[in-house]
Amino acid sequence: MKKRLFTGLQPSGDLHIGNYYGALKPFVDMYEAYNSFLMIADYHALTSLRDSEALHQNTINIVKDYLAVGVDPEKVVIFRQSDNPDHTELGWILNCMVTVPFLMQGHAYKDKVAKGIEPNAGLFTYPMLMAADILLYDTDVVPVGEDQRQHLEYTREAVGKFNRAYGDVLKEPETVILDGVGVVPGTDGQKMSKSYKNTIPLFGTTEEVEKSVMHIVTDSNGERPENVYAIHRLLKSAEELDPIYETYKGKYGDLKKMLAADLETMIAPMRERRNAITDEQVRAVLANGVIKAREVSGSVLEQVRTAIGIAL
Ligand code: TYM
Repeated sequence: MKKRLFTGLQPSGDLHIGNYYGALKPFVDMYEAYNSFLMIADYHALTSLRDSEALHQNTINIVKDYLAVGVDPEKVVIFRQSDNPDHTELGWILNCMVTVPFLMQGHAYKDKVAKGIEPNAGLFTYPMLMAADILLYDTDVVPVGEDQRQHLEYTREAVGKFNRAYGDVLKEPETVILDGVGVVPGTDGQKMSKSYKNTIPLFGTTEEVEKSVMHIVTDSNGERPENVYAIHRLLKSAEELDPIYETYKGKYGDLKKMLAADLETMIAPMRERRNAITDEQVRAVLANGVIKAREVSGSVLEQVRTAIGIAL
């Protein structure tokens, strides 16, 4: 029996290379060794996106992205969170297990409050919806980037609270953070994130990718431009890069051009594959995926319902 893998991604905009190296590529490298589930977290995106056309389009786009980077929908269940109501149902049940002060420690929530953004209640309870996503599939492994670590701790906490009250029903996921991925830095050296406007688009045109690379912040001390180097290291080894960075010391423009060219080599074949995928194909993948997803989540939810006393 293969172990079960579950992961998710918000359809919150065009993917960037932080998503690619932090989530898509590791997923492509590992998913076939597991019984894998890949969820488009559209109800999570609703905590920050209030544009129906964008939510719809982003969802289609993100499935295309996954197919283009080499995910075979015959070998993994790809589905949309909102197509499976089991998620919101278990999310509610888990909300009833944890306290408000506990949720108040959530990073995503605290960040928004610190920035003066009025957090909606969905954002506040988000960690329990994410816990439900994972727990509905008796998941063993959740490959995610470092920034999701706290959410996985919250998931384990929810399992503990539930199982202490009702017995051994929910399964605690064992392996979690992707080794060696770390946080992919953006063009300003902070974590690459759409909300920081420091991204390099994964499926941008050659010109768009080049433009973002040219915007990478460098200081002018003549030393190695760390922000350029850190992104370049995602594509090439230190052995390959170090002599080049030595030869071109201080020539930031040349180094950026080389990075843009290397990115283009990586992206071009995926971009071509992506352009050939139709919206109809995506809809078929999602329609098929949710049937398979519900077969698993339905039986876990049934056990939860029985445990809490609502199964008649
Ligand atoms: P999201 O959509 O923010 O990010 C998707 C995945 O990409 C990783 N990631 C990064 N990794 C390294 N460096 C970066 N700069 C970077 N930016 C993004 C994230 O760690 C993540 O793995 N809450 C989740 C979505 C979700 C989920 C789930 C994940 C909902 N339910 C259940 C796993 C299991 C999120 O917002 O990811």
